[in-house]
Amino acid sequence: MSILNINGSDHTVDVDPGTPVLWALRDALDMTGTKFGCGAALCGACTVHLDGQAIRSCVTPISAVQGKKITTIEAITDGSDPVGAAVHAAWVKHDVAQCGYCQSGQIMSATAFLKSRPKGSQPTVDEIDAAMAGNICRCGTYTRIRAAIADAAQTLA
Ligand code: FES
Ligand code: FES
Repeated sequence: MSILNINGSDHTVDVDPGTPVLWALRDALDMTGTKFGCGAALCGACTVHLDGQAIRSCVTPISAVQGKKITTIEAITDGSDPVGAAVHAAWVKHDVAQCGYCQSGQIMSATAFLKSRPKGSQPTVDEIDAAMAGNICRCGTYTRIRAAIADAAQTLA
């Protein structure tokens, strides 16, 4: 048995300690907002926050997250997180999603990026691209992602 702190609550999961966080979320806890893309830390679809940092849940075993706080897309987009709410609203305003598959990971990386910055600062395009470089979108929504992140940063300024 392992205990995972997810979105502010402890959850007990009966899976092998080597199980990736992604599969504990999706299969053991039925939290399917976090997506499986590559399984090899190459696409970013599975991004969650671990103590506020964006990580790839497909390659992070649950043994490595004991005593740490996991945040998933479910909590970032439920309106309770001001930065998440600003990012979510900007995503809707700019109609970012196409097929949508990569987008929970994109939003998780964008939110971690904006939380990491000094309050009120406006990121440059290069800073946005550097922060989002690990999140692949096969639909090519990068222009709208950039615009939405810049818009969210202005909202939060
Ligand atoms: S599924 Fe984790 S990075 Fe692609
Ligand atoms: S919106 Fe389709 S993969 Fe990004």
